[in-house]
Amino acid sequence: MTAFLYNFFHNETNDRTEKGLISIPEDKNDWPDSWKKIEYKHYSTFKSIVLPKSNGALFKELLVKRRSSEGYMLDNNITLSALSYILQCGYGLQGGTKEEGREESRTVPSGGKRYPLEVYVYLFKRVNECKPGVYHYGVKSHTLEPIFFKDFSYEDISLFTPQKWLHDSVGMISVTSVFSRTIEKYGSMGYRLILLEAGHVAQNMILAGTEKGINIIPIAGINSEEIEKVIGLGSRERVVYTLFL
Ligand SMILES: Cc1cc2nc3c(=O)[nH]c(=O)nc-3n(C[C@H](O)[C@H](O)[C@H](O)COP(=O)(O)O)c2cc1C
Repeated sequence: MTAFLYNFFHNETNDRTEKGLISIPEDKNDWPDSWKKIEYKHYSTFKSIVLPKSNGALFKELLVKRRSSEGYMLDNNITLSALSYILQCGYGLQGGTKEEGREESRTVPSGGKRYPLEVYVYLFKRVNECKPGVYHYGVKSHTLEPIFFKDFSYEDISLFTPQKWLHDSVGMISVTSVFSRTIEKYGSMGYRLILLEAGHVAQNMILAGTEKGINIIPIAGINSEEIEKVIGLGSRERVVYTLFL
């Protein structure tokens, strides 16, 4: 039985479960039934209140269209303008006024307004004038800052994830965290806040992608150390969430 081995350990957690290493069988037939069953909790003491049909078609339409699972990432035709939209919606400045004191607010909430996250775009394929390589998202200037250019081979991409169906993707967005920005203020609770914030960012990106007809897949099955290594991140800043597109 072959299995994917994933390292999930960050120094910022005290979690030493499975020594920070988990093993998932590659063949889903080898998974126990309990991994496949989706649970729904139900309280039946009182009669449930049937919720009325709600208005607000636009957002609902996006949620219904969203697909983030295997097989849905075929042929993503990504333009720089769509990528710009995804980044802006994901972690960009909100564009509020200085007078409101919101000129530095982002499209997501942030515990303690610390904004611990950074966003990197790895392009395996060319997107308009952006050559394959690795870019940092400059939030303030809403720019892509090239870190280096590189033609990624399948072997290079397979170091990032062993999941073969992703090796043909246009690229990936890695959300990293500079943990100290939040932990300095909130102690170890900050770690939790950081992961929650990354979830906000990812969902915004996924829904922005949906609006532009681009399926974005969050992937836990990555080798984050390999992803960090290529941009030379140290222990101060680590990958917390990676999305393929
Ligand atoms: C945190 C997180 C990690 C995930 N990691 C993987 C992954 O490693 N491989 C994969 O194929 N899908 C991954 N997914 C996608 C889920 O498999 C997918 O969301 C789920 O099957 C439901 O399908 P849907 O998103 O199309 O509704 C991940 C999703 C989340 C939220």
